[in-house]
Amino acid sequence: MIKRYFITGTDTNIGKTLSVCALLQSIIRSGQRVIGCKLVASGCKKTKYGLRNSDVIKIMKINNIILPYSHINPFAFFHPTSPHIASEKACIKIYKKDLSYNLKKLSSKTDWLIIEGAGGWYVPININFTYDKWVKLEKIPVILVIGIKLGCINHALLTFEAICNAKIPFVGWIANNIDKNMLYKHKYIAFLKKKLSAPMIGNIPFLKKKDMRDNLYKYIFLKYL
Ligand SMILES: Nc1ncnc2c1ncn2[C@@H]1O[C@H](COP(=O)(O)OP(=O)(O)OP(=O)(O)O)[C@@H](O)[C@H]1O
Ligand SMILES: [Mg+2]
Repeated sequence: MIKRYFITGTDTNIGKTLSVCALLQSIIRSGQRVIGCKLVASGCKKTKYGLRNSDVIKIMKINNIILPYSHINPFAFFHPTSPHIASEKACIKIYKKDLSYNLKKLSSKTDWLIIEGAGGWYVPININFTYDKWVKLEKIPVILVIGIKLGCINHALLTFEAICNAKIPFVGWIANNIDKNMLYKHKYIAFLKKKLSAPMIGNIPFLKKKDMRDNLYKYIFLKYL
């Protein structure tokens, strides 16, 4: 039976991609087949091969199932803005059924599928729906990446409540220590442990540039998944 997880975050730019990379490394080390993907990506570069997103490139470097770029990121947009605007600028309308089609295609090829969301939980995909609606439709269990910084408790609890209210399985959360100078980070994490009714499945320290790529697996507690 395939294991599928949707990776959301307390905000944009708080470490979803880094956490996806850590999860992929951890799953691969456990000897299983995994595909990481980002179905919708804004802020892509124009290349001779087409639009390319840097998150997707990082993910594809780790995946142990090799697929074409367009399978891993079927919706790639140039403008670095909310998907509902970036897709409108590209004259493309994404429907839930398009996402489901791509999900199904990927699911048939792997043991684990790790789907990086876009932005935060309520990010709009088009004017009619936000990403969470599709996650609910597909019943994909959610992992929340919490960028440990000022204000993160509020963002984490709001996101957690929204996921629970939607009756979507909340399987765990990852503490990503994104702020080098954060005071009392262990107290923030202790508070979150008390308030979130799912295990902390990862705790990633602040990393120097050179530590960014390798050995991320050691920060993930795969036994919870
Ligand atoms: N633990 C960490 N230590 C140091 N830097 C980090 C850490 N986590 C993330 N970063 C840096 O913060 C930036 C944002 O991280 P990342 O791209 O993983 O965020 P994201 O949530 O996936 O963003 P987006 O919403 O654009 O997809 C990157 O430059 C990344 O290298
Ligand atoms: Mg990302």
